[in-house]
Amino acid sequence: MKKIIALILVVLMAVGMFSGCVVNEEEKAGTNKYNLTTVKEGYLTVVTSPDYAPYEFYALDENGKPTLAGFDMDLAKYIADYLGLTLEVVPVDFDGIIGEMSAGVADLAMAGLSPDPDRLEKMDFSDIYYGGKQAFVTTKSKKAQFTDLESTNKAEYSIGAQNGTIQMELAAKYSANAEIVTLTKATDIIADLVAGNLDGAYIEWDVAVSYQKNYPDLEIVCEVPYEADGNVIGVAKGNADLLKYVNEALHKCVDEGTFNQYLEKANALAAGEKYEGMLDQDGNVPTDEGVG
Ligand code: ARG
Repeated sequence: MKKIIALILVVLMAVGMFSGCVVNEEEKAGTNKYNLTTVKEGYLTVVTSPDYAPYEFYALDENGKPTLAGFDMDLAKYIADYLGLTLEVVPVDFDGIIGEMSAGVADLAMAGLSPDPDRLEKMDFSDIYYGGKQAFVTTKSKKAQFTDLESTNKAEYSIGAQNGTIQMELAAKYSANAEIVTLTKATDIIADLVAGNLDGAYIEWDVAVSYQKNYPDLEIVCEVPYEADGNVIGVAKGNADLLKYVNEALHKCVDEGTFNQYLEKANALAAGEKYEGMLDQDGNVPTDEGVG
């Protein structure tokens, strides 16, 4: 009897070890083509904030199962492959991104990041890979009140912006007299705006266009001038080799037209079932959150 139990144990252990191998096999370190120093050897650790379609979000399949999607995520995979590194994506709220980069726990930040010069203390910037611009948004019912940026600058208004973003600076600049409400997720700002709790909000133009598909009530009022327009990848401060090869990959991806395909794919997926925000501990869409 003891022998049989021992045998069963051996078989179970072997199965366990084998399945362990399979998992490791899938996630094993890359060949590290350029011998780069990264947070975890052989891996490219990318921090993102997946509440921002078409940049980064979760596409849902017919069973509601979320998969990380968006053109930043395809670009992250492209860069990782180019460098011969295994991609590891770490989703955080946007206001955690700068902290992760300055703590040195991520190699890249890919989150529709604007090249705000204040951030240069904490990270380096890649070249600009996408020409995003800024927007002021409101709802259809309030549209008549907002004709231009000046009309947003009144004490009676509550204006939203995502925590830690350059949109907070834009709100402070153009709507200084209004009550500025900062929220952790872009999703919450749009939801609050549509619910009538906010009068307007600052957000990236393309993200506003994407949210309009889920919230047809959302109205883009005007473009907001911003001197550091466009999007970059945040690169671990002082890692000159990583910066060099990331730029190399970026230019190749854009020049050969692959990045354009990523844009098309992201827009198509963003028009379907999606979730914008953080998943729960089990990797599911939180049940109390609305799904678009
Ligand atoms: N471009 C803005 C910034 O860098 C907002 C980016 C927000 N990104 C996000 N994934 N929620 O401050």
